[in-house]
Amino acid sequence: MDAIVDADVAVARAARRRVPQHQYAGGVPHESLLTTARTIALRAGELARLRRSEGVEVAASKSSPVDIVTAADRETEALIRGLLADERPGDGFFGEESGAERSTTGLTWLVDPIDGTVNFLYGIPHYAVSIAVVEGEPDPQTWTALAACVVNPATGELFTATAGGGAFLGTAPIRVADAVPLSQALVATGFAYDSTTRGEQGRLVAELLPLVRDIRRLGTASLDLCFVASGRYNAYFERTLSPWDHAAGALIAREAGATVKGAGDARPDRELILAGHPDVAADLDRTLGQLAR
Ligand code: IPD
Ligand code: CA
Repeated sequence: MDAIVDADVAVARAARRRVPQHQYAGGVPHESLLTTARTIALRAGELARLRRSEGVEVAASKSSPVDIVTAADRETEALIRGLLADERPGDGFFGEESGAERSTTGLTWLVDPIDGTVNFLYGIPHYAVSIAVVEGEPDPQTWTALAACVVNPATGELFTATAGGGAFLGTAPIRVADAVPLSQALVATGFAYDSTTRGEQGRLVAELLPLVRDIRRLGTASLDLCFVASGRYNAYFERTLSPWDHAAGALIAREAGATVKGAGDARPDRELILAGHPDVAADLDRTLGQLAR
């Protein structure tokens, strides 16, 4: 009996060795996690698009009068949460609009059902469903992101990545733009919902603007990171993001060759996320440090 168990263990170990370790977590291939993320993100995107076409109203405000949630945000998160619970029982859940669920498997899903809610409210076709699965606690300082999917239901664009497996727009591999001097860089950013923080961010952007090609603020952090990944921006930075805003986009940008970092040696968190070609990210990081003094 013991010999059979030993043989089974040996077969399982051999099978694991055939799959590169970076594509295999807790007994689940990253590709299979990505299939789950992609299937659910597409279904959620269909729901969000339908609700948008029916008309959208503010349901409530959250951290400030301009930080809003719509019924569609809540309904879309409930759909994603239910589908994940059916397909991956025991995995943790950490979403923007509903309470967190601890993991019993070591994997946790980070979900923003509608990133770019203000665009969604105004009918601007630039919002996203963002889903990532991470190993470890849902803490960006310690988690290992395994698979990620960001879909813009209004355009149909679908960005994906797995750890070590590269980043894609649809079926096409994507890469960050080549390095350029900061003076030639198109730099995206975003602003917090808190008015005092916005004032500080506005002053910083006013100082940065003469030093770069131009600034963009399109209003959806997950897509900002995907636009870095696909070479549409040279760099992106923002303060005060939450884990669900950047979990998926950060993996996609990193897998496309970007540096994605926080303040100093930290990984991205509320304090800062900065992404771009490694050389451009280093220049922008240095320049922001000087401007902030
Ligand atoms: C927001 C968007 C926006 C960013 C904000 C986020 P939400 O997410 O990603 O681009 O500037 O900081 O909170 O509220 O639309 O899910
Ligand atoms: Ca959101």
